[in-house]
Amino acid sequence: MPPPPLTPLFLLLVLITTTAVSAAAATTQDSDLESDCTNKWIHIRHLPPEFNLDLLKNCSEYPVFDNFCPYIPNHGLGHKTHNSSHSWYRTDPFMLELIFHRRILEYPCLTPDPVLADAVFLPYYAGIDSLKYLFGPEVNSSFLHGLDLYQYLTNSENTPSIWDRHHGHDHFLVMARPAWDFSQPVSNDPPVFGTSFLELPEFFNVTALTFEARAYPWQEQAVPYPTSFHPPNLAFLDSWMNRVRRSRRSTLMVFAGGGGISANPNVRRSIRLECENITNSVNANETGYSNLCEFVDCSNGVCEHDPIRFMKPMLQSSFCLQPPGDTPTRRSTFDGMLAGCVPVFFEELSARRQYTWHLPEEEYGEFSVFIAKEDVVGKGVKILDVLMNIPRAEIRRKREKVMEMLPRIMYRKHGSSLGLRSKKDAFDIAIEGTLQRIKSRTQQFAALRK
Ligand SMILES: *[C@@H]1O[C@H](CO)[C@@H](O)[C@H](O)[C@H]1NC(C)=O
Ligand SMILES: *[C@@H]1O[C@H](CO)[C@@H](O)[C@H](O)[C@H]1NC(C)=O
Ligand SMILES: *[C@@H]1O[C@H](CO)[C@@H](O)[C@H](O)[C@H]1NC(C)=O
Ligand SMILES: *[C@@H]1O[C@H](CO)[C@@H](O)[C@H](O)[C@H]1NC(C)=O
Ligand SMILES: *[C@@H]1O[C@H](CO)[C@@H](O)[C@H](O)[C@H]1NC(C)=O
Ligand SMILES: *[C@@H]1O[C@H](CO)[C@@H](O)[C@H](O)[C@H]1NC(C)=O
Repeated sequence: MPPPPLTPLFLLLVLITTTAVSAAAATTQDSDLESDCTNKWIHIRHLPPEFNLDLLKNCSEYPVFDNFCPYIPNHGLGHKTHNSSHSWYRTDPFMLELIFHRRILEYPCLTPDPVLADAVFLPYYAGIDSLKYLFGPEVNSSFLHGLDLYQYLTNSENTPSIWDRHHGHDHFLVMARPAWDFSQPVSNDPPVFGTSFLELPEFFNVTALTFEARAYPWQEQAVPYPTSFHPPNLAFLDSWMNRVRRSRRSTLMVFAGGGGISANPNVRRSIRLECENITNSVNANETGYSNLCEFVDCSNGVCEHDPIRFMKPMLQSSFCLQPPGDTPTRRSTFDGMLAGCVPVFFEELSARRQYTWHLPEEEYGEFSVFIAKEDVVGKGVKILDVLMNIPRAEIRRKREKVMEMLPRIMYRKHGSSLGLRSKKDAFDIAIEGTLQRIKSRTQQFAALRK
């Protein structure tokens, strides 16, 4: 068994502690900021390390899941893809809890005083803590997930007044997995996959940021999966955007993912079959593309921490197919958009009904293509026919729109330049959305009490 990654963990500890202090100092120095921070103050609830940093010590102890020690460095961004890389990391999306924790330490409107705060952030690594229930020794007590946190928050020795002020309505946290993984009814016996965190009455009032929300969510809001791109300044972002803009799109459509090999009809299987058939039959020469369909086989997780495998084909393709996988959403939606590849969705739950803060619902027609999966699987609609019928000029317009939204869906590097900070990224938009949501919740709650 590899030893725990003491060095990264130690660095993380030191940085998290020192940054918190300097961020707090910065807020009190700058008096202009005070007014800009109206309705935006956030208090970071102090939690003992058992709820965050201690959980990283077990990173090699989940063989069924993965050894996630390699993905912890750089505050959850992972290792750089190459030593000379400035913006590209081997990022594992499940590390968003760490990434978010680091980023919130440089949020300009932090307050040490919970009474002044408009929202209270819980730096709890909920998804990482859930591993012991999902894949570990506590699989049969998954209904307990979160109860120790609740006990801490409301314990008479730990300033329970912070929770009581709004009965948790002003609290939020990141849970870097689909909400399904936390939505098992408490009474399920024997338990099926998933914990009951989001089903516990104790947490009904808390806002959870997840990668995927249920169809009728009350507590959770979906936020983008992190990609491998985390630029430290505006120059690196601009040079990437230029590369995307200049890239020759010689492939019509690409699918990067696993699956599609089952015998049962489903949209991934249709895509695979269609892709294989095209390659053998249609003459690509007449279409202006040298390749009509590319299938990047990402089975067995081979692509996950190796962005070159899929970013290159995505850069060279006009359309990126984003069928549902085990659940409706996929990280690849954001990788593709980062490459200026127009997303093709097959169900509304894949993005439109999810990322409402980051990708406004009314704009999907401008930047994406929708083909109902039922039409592909059941009615013989060919994806190729639909996409070939979209005029080049329209593809260009869609790509421009994708690129316009690109800064909103990426997570820039912590400690990035002021120039880059002036553009809102996925973190900034998640915070804005959370503050608004909490405001309306606490107002409703206050009105009820009158
Ligand atoms: C990359 O950096 C690491 C640590 O700084 C070093 O050990 C390694 O040799 C470097 N690799 C290359 C290819 O330069
Ligand atoms: C995590 O580490 C603690 C302390 O070393 C241990 O008690 C616990 O069983 C570990 N959990 C898992 C899931 O390995
Ligand atoms: C969980 O419960 C099932 C039966 O309900 C049992 O077969 C299994 O061994 C238990 N797992 C653990 C880790 O206790
Ligand atoms: C959640 O809020 C409601 C009021 O909206 C309150 O009655 C309830 O006690 C709160 N739940 C918890 C666990 O604090
Ligand atoms: C693939 O091609 C074969 C033979 O031309 C045809 O029978 C089949 O329906 C095609 N499948 C798809 C999914 O297009
Ligand atoms: C496709 O075009 C290339 C050159 O543009 C030509 O050499 C090749 O024969 C063409 N292939 C077919 C099948 O027409």
